[in-house]
Amino acid sequence: QVQVWDNRGNASGWSLPAHWEMGLLQPADWKTRWITPDLAEDPQESNPAPMLRRTFTVKGSVARARLYATAMGLYQLELNGRRVGADCLAPGWTAYDFRFQYQTYDVTDQVRPGENCLGALLGDGWFRGRLSWTRHRNSYGEKLALLAQLVITYADGSSEVVGSDEKWKAATGPILASDLYMGETYDARLERPGWSQPGYDDREWRGVTILPPPAARLTASAPSVRRIEEIKPVRLLKTPAGDTVLDMGQNMVGWLRFQVTAPAGTTITLRHAEVLDKAGNLYTENLRGADQTIRYTARGGGPETFEPHFTFQGFRYVAISGWPGEPALGAFTGVVVHSALAPAGAFSCSDPLINQLQHNIVWGQKGNFVDIPTDCPQRDERLGWTGDTQVFARTACFNFDCATFYTKWLADLALDQQDDGAVPHVSPDVIAHRERKGHSAAAGWADAAVVVPWTVYLSYGDRRILERQYPSMKAWVEYMRRAAGDRYLWNTGDTFGDWLAFATIDPGYPGATTDKDLIQTAYFAHSTDLLGETARVLGRQGDAADYAELSAKIRAAFLKEFVTPNGRLASNTQTAYALALAFDLLPESLRPRAAERLAADVRKFKHLTTGFLGTPVLCKVLSDTGHLDEAYLLLNRKEYPSWLYPVTQGATTIWERWDGQKPDGTFQDKGMNSFNHYAYGAIGEWLYRVVAGIDLDPEQPAYKHILIQPRPGGGLTSAEASLRTMYGRVASSWELKDGRMVLQVEIPANTSATVRLPHAQPGQVTESGQPLRTAPGISAVRQADDAVSAELGSGSYTFAYPLGGKPS
Ligand code: BGC
Repeated sequence: QVQVWDNRGNASGWSLPAHWEMGLLQPADWKTRWITPDLAEDPQESNPAPMLRRTFTVKGSVARARLYATAMGLYQLELNGRRVGADCLAPGWTAYDFRFQYQTYDVTDQVRPGENCLGALLGDGWFRGRLSWTRHRNSYGEKLALLAQLVITYADGSSEVVGSDEKWKAATGPILASDLYMGETYDARLERPGWSQPGYDDREWRGVTILPPPAARLTASAPSVRRIEEIKPVRLLKTPAGDTVLDMGQNMVGWLRFQVTAPAGTTITLRHAEVLDKAGNLYTENLRGADQTIRYTARGGGPETFEPHFTFQGFRYVAISGWPGEPALGAFTGVVVHSALAPAGAFSCSDPLINQLQHNIVWGQKGNFVDIPTDCPQRDERLGWTGDTQVFARTACFNFDCATFYTKWLADLALDQQDDGAVPHVSPDVIAHRERKGHSAAAGWADAAVVVPWTVYLSYGDRRILERQYPSMKAWVEYMRRAAGDRYLWNTGDTFGDWLAFATIDPGYPGATTDKDLIQTAYFAHSTDLLGETARVLGRQGDAADYAELSAKIRAAFLKEFVTPNGRLASNTQTAYALALAFDLLPESLRPRAAERLAADVRKFKHLTTGFLGTPVLCKVLSDTGHLDEAYLLLNRKEYPSWLYPVTQGATTIWERWDGQKPDGTFQDKGMNSFNHYAYGAIGEWLYRVVAGIDLDPEQPAYKHILIQPRPGGGLTSAEASLRTMYGRVASSWELKDGRMVLQVEIPANTSATVRLPHAQPGQVTESGQPLRTAPGISAVRQADDAVSAELGSGSYTFAYPLGGKPS
């Protein structure tokens, strides 16, 4: 339990108690063996999901019982007929060649003296189900397996272990096929009532085979995927093509639960899609080879409720066929699943369209935080694309507490890295794994190895993430150093460039308008800088000096190769200017001119022209260089291309492409057109950091020293954000009213803040009605340009002042 004292001597109450316990740290802590069911299977196809069971006797009164489990494939456990835990898609996806996560369940209340039974259902999942656009099966192996260990501690202090061993029996049952992409086929007539209870007759069941232990390590689990919330469908439509379609009102990830009364043998089919086409029909072409289809055959005789086991769908619309009679809305519930992370931040403002954008960003994150950070959750992809999360990580850490989620993913990324330091395009790296060959590394994608740990460190302040990732971060920068050679220009290998940029020269290669070697060298400099900073934080002085020197050489090379003496860049694109300014690649003397060129380009087009790499930094660069109006122009634009165009089209998540659905209602290329792709949602951090004005100080990370610096503009009359930081809640909320600015700020105990009040004069600012200079908790009031800055201790503050001229 925790209690805090603030700078005014006030004590808080006690927090609720939290607890932790040790996991199984050593291989020798596992007393049980991996088992695989003795079932005949066809490795080329989805096979019926195995059911496994074992009975055991509890000999006395139980003080505590813990069940530890993992699988090759996915598992669901039952104990005496009841589900164990609330995890979905366990054990989650890791680089299975190197490590499996295990989950720990407190089952003290589920075991009972006498006969007990443990049951397990196994599914294909990432281990052997279809993966990537190739839809190959068996990426990691052909056989499903279970490792489970139940540790019973009796009241007298003695203990006993039961778990996976040769005593288990195996059979198949109602799950005829289940695949992450394809969906699930379930025949309820094949259910085996009582299968995970003692006394069930399993004489017909087959046995299991003990597997030699894999080389992979076992590691404790990051927060699992859970059922996080439920939503009800908003309407039922009949499409022109004659389909009966359910509209969930939200593009969501998870599945549908339904209740039906139907004669035995009735098969109900659910086909999931993100969008309807122009004519109003279900549109599934953008799902490519992912069928996302549920087939349920009724057992008959009463209301039966179903939800799938080892699959998930990305969808807003569901076409229902085979339903007896007219389906009623009330029969369906959308079960939203994602990694169980604590919500951390909230943002809203006076513009409902921007609020919908924030909503869409958050839902893009939910749907793509299903155990790993994915590009998209619907088509035959759903992979841990490094570039997508590299640009989104800072936004992600505003919306949810992502510390453990990224810590887990980064461990796999490091394991997937090649000996030469090349970082895969996706992690877990199922592509190189499958092809059993090396991969090239791409600028802005591979840099996730450096940017994501640095972002986690900045957001949560735990140096261990830097310590642990340091070899991986360094190997990546050294890879670029070798590839760049003594010219310090990195221009080799395959790279995606400014992927999906608005304007492209070559339609076959989106993102080609900004020279790729300019982007590569810019990222080379950026990662080198962050690595140098990391070395400094970790006290590795030699490395810090080395990378500072390398960085200076890359900058000099960049300048010589890509910048004219007057500050014009070789690629005259928004992305080129934005990256050069964001990564500080230009000498001070050229920055204003380069920034002016960028701003002029924005004014000329009246819209962004950027892709995956330019977009995330564009507004920040503009607002940092005195071009706030241009940044708001981009944010406020409602026509294509812009963030709000999809919002005006009714989007409830972030689209992969600026024109996923065009103004005339037709769709972008079906080969790559996801309606739930968080990359462009990276504007989220600008909403928090600049519009509402909550930022951190890299010298005192994790909001130990908070920067409150809102930048009203763009016609907004108010904005507010809050964030649960490691120290407590931070909030910033401003309103413009009757020519006055009112800013409310909350600063948690054990932190300090610098607040910047735009367009203010020191003599005119009050805090809670008192003149600023004499208000309690405030020190060092300064006038800086057109703003007043002040230092704050913890507490709640309300600043008010007349606006000195500017924003409307
Ligand atoms: C994915 C991405 C990814 C890109 C790489 C796409 O298929 O969906 O978002 O970053 O490929 O270029």
